[in-house]
Amino acid sequence: MIIGYVQTDPIFGEKEQNFLQIENLLKGKGADIIVLPELFATGYTFISKEEAVNLAEDIDGITAKFLKKIANRTNAVIVGGFIENDNHKIYNSAMLVSKTDVIGVYRKIHLYYKEKLWFSPGDKKLRIYEINNFKVGMMICFDWIFPETARSLALLGADIIAHSANLVLPFCQKAMATRCLENRVFAITSNRIGNEIRGEDNFTFTGRSQITSYNGEVLSSAPKDKTYVEFVEIELEKARDKHLNEFNNIVADRRPDYYSM
Ligand code: ACM
Repeated sequence: MIIGYVQTDPIFGEKEQNFLQIENLLKGKGADIIVLPELFATGYTFISKEEAVNLAEDIDGITAKFLKKIANRTNAVIVGGFIENDNHKIYNSAMLVSKTDVIGVYRKIHLYYKEKLWFSPGDKKLRIYEINNFKVGMMICFDWIFPETARSLALLGADIIAHSANLVLPFCQKAMATRCLENRVFAITSNRIGNEIRGEDNFTFTGRSQITSYNGEVLSSAPKDKTYVEFVEIELEKARDKHLNEFNNIVADRRPDYYSM
């Protein structure tokens, strides 16, 4: 099975240019699943709620149409972030899209910093989706700092965590090795590069998108300051065996009676 990511350098508010950048980066490429960054079409650093509302879309908007087009060209299912507009609320969401359909939408449950001013927190339970022969769950950027997110997806049966990100802290890439090792799942962290200075905020995004293996090994690591695409072949079955050795199984050995959550 081939899994991959695109690391982009989006221009704030310029959806069509940001789509074109991804189309060019993916020319001639194919895979089973490809992950794009959080908010890949819009940029990240809003200066007002109104600005974010104006860039929001329904799940049949131009971003969904673009993702279907990319799914057709690459023969992959695609995960990518967008601002979801639903019933007068907006969410920092990611959608999982096939050639013809939006298969699922995840609304970020752990909002970072001023995202709390613009977005409503996710209000749907974490879940996984079965696509052909694999099971995928979605999380977005700052969700990484709450180990419950990846754990929940793993306990639900995810083989792969699709992790769309706009990382600004330097810790996530290392942490994902632990998230994958402790859950024996694969993860695709698709990050962006570049700098956004807007209003009082000045964010430098950390690049270094990463594919992390079920045993914590880093299978792909992108540069910190260049757009980039990478695909890796994985043995999916490895994520289905939760044994660490003949005595330890990281799911069966859990002791929830002794945990305080
Ligand atoms: C983040 O969650 N985008 C930092």
